[in-house]
Amino acid sequence: MQRSGKLPSVTARIAVLASGTGSNLEAILNHFADGAAAETGAVVLVASDNPRAGALARARARGIPATTLPNWADGPAIVDRLRDARIDTIALAGYLRFLPPEITRGYRGRVLNVHPALLPAFGGRGMYGHRVHDAVIAAGARVSGATVHFVDEEYDHGPIIAQEPVPVFPDDDAATLAQRVLRTEHAIYPRSIEAVVAGRVVLCENGRVRGSI
Ligand code: GAR
Repeated sequence: MQRSGKLPSVTARIAVLASGTGSNLEAILNHFADGAAAETGAVVLVASDNPRAGALARARARGIPATTLPNWADGPAIVDRLRDARIDTIALAGYLRFLPPEITRGYRGRVLNVHPALLPAFGGRGMYGHRVHDAVIAAGARVSGATVHFVDEEYDHGPIIAQEPVPVFPDDDAATLAQRVLRTEHAIYPRSIEAVVAGRVVLCENGRVRGSI
């Protein structure tokens, strides 16, 4: 259950940005629904560049405000929207657009992303969805995995918060590997977000990450 009523001021207000089906969003919502996580933060806004994103429907089904970004490249407008909703932490969950620098700079150390491979390998512009897993298989890698990182001004780039390896089997295709990696994303991403909002993981001035999930 999403918490109702007035949230205590110490509770982080999280926005999730998603372009696709939203299975990571679902895992995040489940994680913050109760227990210690619910004391530390709540997802209060879901936004997408894609009006047909399954993530928007999942949010609305739970009564969470869900919005389409009219112009995903308009940094100042998005910052205004985030400020209106008093957002302090942003989680990208399968968000495929470049995040304008107004957001990455304005929310330094408070913007997270999950990627379905072990960065810095198999990331960057155009590396999303099955393309990532096709590239891993084509390279003959025996291990892939999931990475959670703070977001900087480059695609799939920034100080790493958590990584977990996943085996690649000889008969894998992109779909089977994606499914295995997604399970790991769902395990480490919500915990990473909680660790950041609880202050157990911090981005230091020197760009290093202190603490672990
Ligand atoms: C996830 O695998 C996520 O890691 C990936 O998109 C998928 C979204 O799935 N993100 C990237 O590739 C970012 N470069 P979901 O909509 O079911 O959460």
